[in-house]
Amino acid sequence: METFYASLLGFFILFVTLSFHFLFYRQKTVGNLPPGRTGFPMVGESLEFLSTGWKGHPEKFIFDRIAKYSSYVFRTSLLGSPAVVFCGAAGNKFLFSNENKLVQAWWPSSVDKIFPSSTQTSSKEEAIRLRKMLPNFLKAEALQRYIGIMDEIAQRHFATDWENKAQVVTFPLTKRYTFWLACRLFVSVEDPKQVAKFEDPFGVLAAGLLSIPIDLPGTPFNRAIKASNFIRTELVAIIKQRKLDLAEGKASPTQDILSHMLLTSDENGKFMHEADIADKILGLLVGGHDTASSSCASIVKFLAELPEVYEGVYKEQMAIAKSKAPGELLNWDDIQKMKYSWNVACEVMRLAPPLQGAFREAINDFTYNGFSIPKGWKIYWSAHSTHRNAEFFPEPLKFDPSRFEGSGPAPYTFVPFGGGPRMCPGKEYARLEILVFMHHLVRRFKWEKMIPNEKIIVDPCQILKKVFQSGFTLTRLRQDI
Ligand code: HEM
Repeated sequence: METFYASLLGFFILFVTLSFHFLFYRQKTVGNLPPGRTGFPMVGESLEFLSTGWKGHPEKFIFDRIAKYSSYVFRTSLLGSPAVVFCGAAGNKFLFSNENKLVQAWWPSSVDKIFPSSTQTSSKEEAIRLRKMLPNFLKAEALQRYIGIMDEIAQRHFATDWENKAQVVTFPLTKRYTFWLACRLFVSVEDPKQVAKFEDPFGVLAAGLLSIPIDLPGTPFNRAIKASNFIRTELVAIIKQRKLDLAEGKASPTQDILSHMLLTSDENGKFMHEADIADKILGLLVGGHDTASSSCASIVKFLAELPEVYEGVYKEQMAIAKSKAPGELLNWDDIQKMKYSWNVACEVMRLAPPLQGAFREAINDFTYNGFSIPKGWKIYWSAHSTHRNAEFFPEPLKFDPSRFEGSGPAPYTFVPFGGGPRMCPGKEYARLEILVFMHHLVRRFKWEKMIPNEKIIVDPCQILKKVFQSGFTLTRLRQDI
């Protein structure tokens, strides 16, 4: 027995010595790390990071540390990795300007497995080439032709899901709206029954994206992989059929983004493979799933709270509505007139950004603000670090759409869509669907919140799946038209 305890003690001393050696040796080799703490082994500060969002104050994690370390860069440990958080406009500028030079995009391994992007199916250069093609399909000129379709779908959505109801829970409805639009505009799936066929597996995919990556029957991760495979197979079948239909003249080259992708070659005359197109469309469905719908839901919330802002949006949208002939659909010129409404939407995204931030990974060792950032460390940029910062937005908690008038906020301060080469490719698409939503919302309804002080819970772990736990429950929905 004595020998057993002696060897146990020996192991303990060895373990402590090695741990200290490892700790100090690493500190020495990595140089002057940014101030901060790495929290508990493995979990690091992930729980603090998540719990501020669960309590409805996701910005607290960032601002507590900015205050403590009086620095715009701090060290932490998130999702099992040592990490650095870059804050402020300078941090955003540095990260967005050094994409693929010092940093590259990083997602937890669960995302890569559920949603194998073209980085796994093709070379890195090929993936970058394909990523570069995305904006072609989503730029303003390409999207103008879809505004009328957005208008039609929005009308059908409001007719079936909002009208003649005394109360609604908003977030599930805005998700249904953006998902219906995506199905129609990406792949011409329009029939609500067919849309529903995708909706359920899609919910499963989104729920498992950042789950614990245990691939055993019944785990959220396992279910998400299956859902992703199902959607991918369905997409490939749609793509094959579309190729035949295009060849036989049964489909139009401009009917949706899929046709556009099939018929567009890159600068070397190369067309995208079926699998790459399925990847890209799945990527767009994932990227657009809970983001624009979250903005639409937040808009409903803020307009309920701020009658004078509602009035401004109502006036603008009614002037547009009155200028149209009966049955005439919204078009590009109408969208250009929705300036105040877009300023309101931007102010909503400043205070309630659909994505809290995103991760990068250091490709090499580098120095930032005199601090060493070691190769392989994760770097997080946070929209809140500028959006709610009085240095960039005076009286940051005040809802003030005039901040976006004229030349608007200073560069790198308003970043709901990120910035640099990885800036959200769906930005313009999102602008259109949000404005079309606002048009129909205020034309039809006035509303009140049923739960006046409802707490909005944000789960930054589910980066692509923001959680409004009980949604916005509205009452006294009145039909104005
Ligand atoms: C209000 C709505 C939206 C917001 C606030 C938003 C925001 C963002 C942000 C912050 C990123 C990450 C940038 C980074 O890594 O630094 C992103 C990426 C992305 N978004 Fe959006 N997004 C929105 C809507 C959409 C829509 C509607 C689509 C599709 C049509 C879309 C497609 C994507 C894709 C594919 C990526 C990944 C890009 C890449 O990997 O390089 N997003 N978005």
